[in-house]
Amino acid sequence: MSDKKVIFSGIQPSGELMLGSYFGAIKNWVELSGMYDCYFCIVDMHAITVRQDPAELRRRTLEQLAQYIACGLDPEACALFVQSHAPQHAELAWVLGCYTMFGELQRMTQFKEKSSKNTENINSGLFTYPVLMAADILAYQADLVPVGDDQKQHLELTRDIAQRFNGIYGDVFTVPEPYIPKTGARIMSLCDPSSKMSKSDGTSGASVYLMDTPEAIMRAFKRAVTDSGSEVRYDLAEKPGVSNLMQIYSAATGMDLSAIEARFSGRGYGYFKSAVGEAVAETLRPIRERAADLMKNKDYLAGIYKKGARRASETSGRTLRGVYEKLGFVEK
Ligand code: TYM
Repeated sequence: MSDKKVIFSGIQPSGELMLGSYFGAIKNWVELSGMYDCYFCIVDMHAITVRQDPAELRRRTLEQLAQYIACGLDPEACALFVQSHAPQHAELAWVLGCYTMFGELQRMTQFKEKSSKNTENINSGLFTYPVLMAADILAYQADLVPVGDDQKQHLELTRDIAQRFNGIYGDVFTVPEPYIPKTGARIMSLCDPSSKMSKSDGTSGASVYLMDTPEAIMRAFKRAVTDSGSEVRYDLAEKPGVSNLMQIYSAATGMDLSAIEARFSGRGYGYFKSAVGEAVAETLRPIRERAADLMKNKDYLAGIYKKGARRASETSGRTLRGVYEKLGFVEK
């Protein structure tokens, strides 16, 4: 065991990895990873709350691992693993479910959104999804959870569950803090800046994916919806389209919003959109190439996720044993 603080985060393999997850989450995982003990998961068990095609799920799980590495996560330093390979997550989720109130889960915005979109399949997994997420995090005694803005409410619930459990049984769980970046925490659709960019948006050009070619990326940004006027200025109410592009440009280049306004002053939207496209294409190019290369070596990838699962199970197993003991379960 090391003395380093712990990071845990995960992404569902429910669609291709896209720009929102990169800027909202993975980019920050990479930046923080040197300073922490890191566990980064591909949360396949969360993905099945919505019906998945088995062959697609298998393909995307492996590709997501290749993309984690291609983004710069070092598989020697971080545990990169698949959620279903560490059964402790599901076991702990059962326990935590007994310490989570029905009313708390009913208030979750993501549940309300997903159940209104999926009226044919409002299953109980969709409802208890945040409990499994809490188990993911608490099983590793994570100090920090780098996520996009949309996961904030789930993180707050995780903290409430941890505090409730600790209140009854003593200091069992570390109460985690969210890490939400200043720019890129909420990337919006390029076609409709009032809705979040998502993996599952079928609208052509709405989302940009990590594996998109530079040509496809340029096309998407050139067509991106902007607003009336022609000035590149950050104003979420009056200029949601341009403001979203500015967030993306800022996340890709590290420039702050006022420097971006100054650089593109008097240039017009067309020029700005091409510049954003180029910045994103250049950010993603090496990731796409490296991921494609890694996908050629499935044995290497299998070695990484197996090693990740061993390390993950060791840590989460230790937490689970402590929890069972506190609960009064007889040792096996
Ligand atoms: P998921 O798979 O929907 O998204 C993965 C990560 O990407 C962030 N994100 C975004 N950030 C900025 N702009 C966007 N448009 C955007 N879309 C997605 C998300 O905030 C997230 O950080 N419940 C989680 C997965 C999960 C998890 C966990 C995360 C399961 N267990 C434990 C952290 C810790 C989810 O559905 O993320």
